Amino acid sequence: MTLRSKITGTGSYVPKKVISNFDLEKKLNTSDEWITERTGIKERRIAARNETNSDLCLEASKKALEAAGLKAKELDMIIVATMSGDMPMPSTAAFLQSKLGAKEIAAFDMNAACSGFLYGLSVADNFIKTGTAKKILLVGSEVNSRFLDWEDRTTCVLFGDGAGAVILEPTRSKRGILSTSLYSDGDMWDYICLPGGGSTHPASAKTIKEKKHYIKMRGNETFKIAVRTLEKLVIDTLKENNLKPSQLSMLIPHQANLRIISATAKRLKLPMDKVALNLDKYGNTSSASIPIALDEVVREKRIKKDDYILLEAFGGGLTWASALIKW
Ligand code: ACO
Repeated sequence: MTLRSKITGTGSYVPKKVISNFDLEKKLNTSDEWITERTGIKERRIAARNETNSDLCLEASKKALEAAGLKAKELDMIIVATMSGDMPMPSTAAFLQSKLGAKEIAAFDMNAACSGFLYGLSVADNFIKTGTAKKILLVGSEVNSRFLDWEDRTTCVLFGDGAGAVILEPTRSKRGILSTSLYSDGDMWDYICLPGGGSTHPASAKTIKEKKHYIKMRGNETFKIAVRTLEKLVIDTLKENNLKPSQLSMLIPHQANLRIISATAKRLKLPMDKVALNLDKYGNTSSASIPIALDEVVREKRIKKDDYILLEAFGGGLTWASALIKW
């Protein structure tokens, strides 16, 4: 039987502080009605001043390790998917390794914006399939709130902070990760970007004045591409696995916009009770949204052995990705 990887534990963590649409109404020219109708978001979590991205990772990781029945010292790789790491260098995975007290193992970050978790899942899956790693901790974690212009209503109402983690281990059964598909189109880099602080625009008084250190998004154009791309992606993913939409038990989409998610579900003829949703509570948590949603459906026992689960994401790059899992 082929060697594949299996998720053996999940965990998630969101900061305590809640900011509702009504809180934003008081500071911005926006309304609960606009945000709810256009996005489906009602509130989001914001990390405390002294909370770092790796702190969020740590809490989610502890829960995933406990669920898998593993100790941090047993891990042989840590991958953190993020676009809002503790520092540009070293990696957030290095901080997480230290905080977990894991032994000397490979630890690195991946950045594919909102598709980051699925990129990380694919990399982890391949390390396991080749036999190079046996116990991988993969975390999707974001502190987006530190990279938002809180005066820009077109972006700040959309994002939130949080972390989700999974443990991957090898299996020779028919269950586990059946496929992963990754795509990007760098020609469309400026649809969603954070232009300041890199080597193109190193931090300076000028870049700060020009607000280059905040997330920028061409929302409406991104929306149209996301709907079209994701509809094709989910159908292609099922075809590649010789599955019909009716065989799916659950869709776990990236949580950017309820209208994008509903369009994908409609294309699959999937009722919304088979779609994992949490963007009403947390907003768009970028690479954390899928692992948080996965952890929720696992803990709520909404998925069971042998269920087919489809994961999909779209984000900055532009990037898009899917994974099909037999649970
Ligand atoms: N409150 C009130 N009005 C607003 C707000 C707000 N918070 N934000 C924008 N508006 C206004 C606009 O100014 C515009 O006004 P105008 O018509 O007078 O110019 C109007 O509302 C409509 O704006 P649109 O941008 O056309 O609104 P749209 O329906 O497209 O919704 C949104 C915007 C929610 C951003 C949507 O386009 C979207 O979800 N896009 C895709 C996001 C996505 O999937 N991103 C990928 C992942 S993110 C990542 O990778 C980091």
